[in-house]
Amino acid sequence: MERTLSIIKPDATSRNITGKVNAMIEEAGLRIVAQKRLQLTAAQAEEFYAEHKDKAFFTSMIEQMISAPVVVQILEADNAIALYRKIMGATNPAIAEEGTIRKTFALSIDKNTVHGSDSPESAKREINFFFSNIEIVG
Ligand code: CMP
Repeated sequence: MERTLSIIKPDATSRNITGKVNAMIEEAGLRIVAQKRLQLTAAQAEEFYAEHKDKAFFTSMIEQMISAPVVVQILEADNAIALYRKIMGATNPAIAEEGTIRKTFALSIDKNTVHGSDSPESAKREINFFFSNIEIVG
């Protein structure tokens, strides 16, 4: 079993569609083994996305990520990282495949509804960023 870190982003919490996103996650065979709703501070969002700090979109991305609460969650499955990236769809919803979370719900590349870890190393760092062991219940 593998674990990945998911964030249901402000564009989704503000539209009250976290349950619809979770339904797609569970229907794909991913188990939500930890979950909480948070209001990120700018400092927290900047630390989480530190690898993007030199990108042109960094400031607007941080503004978007702190514009409303997020739901952070740990998803578990065989090949959870790749499976979640498949059902999320492309980062840019304009080119995401039919049936993916982003094709179904995302509004733009900034308001793209979900984040998922991109590697085992990122998953470990991102899970440890938000969760302690006592909060993870398979
Ligand atoms: P995410 O998977 O959370 O990782 C970084 C985020 O930056 C990405 O999703 C997008 O929401 C956001 N972003 C904004 N503009 C861009 C861009 N041009 N390329 C990639 N990501 C972008």
